Amino acid sequence: MFKKILNNFQKGNTAKDTNDNKFADIKIDASRLPRHTAIIMDGNGRWAESHGLIRTAGHTQGVRTLKEILKIAIDLPLPVLTVFAFSTENWKRPHAEVDFLMHLFSDYLAEEINEIDEKNVKLHFLGRIDELSPALRNQARDAEKQTMNNTGLIFNVAMNYGGQDEITRAVQKIAAKIESGEIKSTEIDSSYIENNLDTAGLPPVDLLIRTSGDFRISNFLLWQAAYAEFWFTDVNWPEFTPEVFMKAISDYGKRDRRFGGLTDKK
Ligand code: IPE
Ligand code: IPE
Ligand code: MG
Repeated sequence: MFKKILNNFQKGNTAKDTNDNKFADIKIDASRLPRHTAIIMDGNGRWAESHGLIRTAGHTQGVRTLKEILKIAIDLPLPVLTVFAFSTENWKRPHAEVDFLMHLFSDYLAEEINEIDEKNVKLHFLGRIDELSPALRNQARDAEKQTMNNTGLIFNVAMNYGGQDEITRAVQKIAAKIESGEIKSTEIDSSYIENNLDTAGLPPVDLLIRTSGDFRISNFLLWQAAYAEFWFTDVNWPEFTPEVFMKAISDYGKRDRRFGGLTDKK
């Protein structure tokens, strides 16, 4: 469906020319897709509360949204999608909520991994996966192994992830190499640091989406988002639709990215 939209666009048409009315007003420039899209999936609790439900019902609904958004990322296709599922700070929440989330991640993996694999998606986890329960950790590592040779969308799930923690771990790894004499401190440059992050080898974040109305990064991808385009919406994650996602990508294509230089627009 989306490939059709992009193909039409490449032919000089727009989404208006497709039969798909849902996306009729959304124009996506196929030559300006983000190489790396990151999403802070926020607002599950607020969505639940606004519907008279308990917070955890919002997380269940949030998983449904994630499945829809993943389909679009595959169909467009986007090269890399990274979602924030659980932060190093989220352990501060009530035990029952944390426990619910961990079970939800486990159920999601069990139910979706074969379809993810069939769709040629390479699944990868960012964060301190080794500190999760042994069962969830093994499930995550097995899922990575199952999809490691896939060549389609790279789908990163940040779980027990914090940007400061990731940079700290990278510094520790690099310091150990200096201690052992493997490298000299003068060999460290920004690409060396990048290659020691959980996102080693991936492009920097081009587009960072946050749902639910807050304007902060909450310790997500601090290094990788150095020049990201930010896109915020009041929509809570459980109500984040394919249309809103397409709008974010469409808006990204219109941004003037200068990287400290001057405009590239004529
Ligand atoms: C995001 O929704 C999901 C996680 C952080 C795990 P929240 O649970 O943060 O929802 P709000 O922000 O309280 O509404
Ligand atoms: C960020 O959302 C983390 C995830 C979406 C997993 P939070 O709800 O934890 O962020 P804060 O607490 O509002 O900054
Ligand atoms: Mg939140």
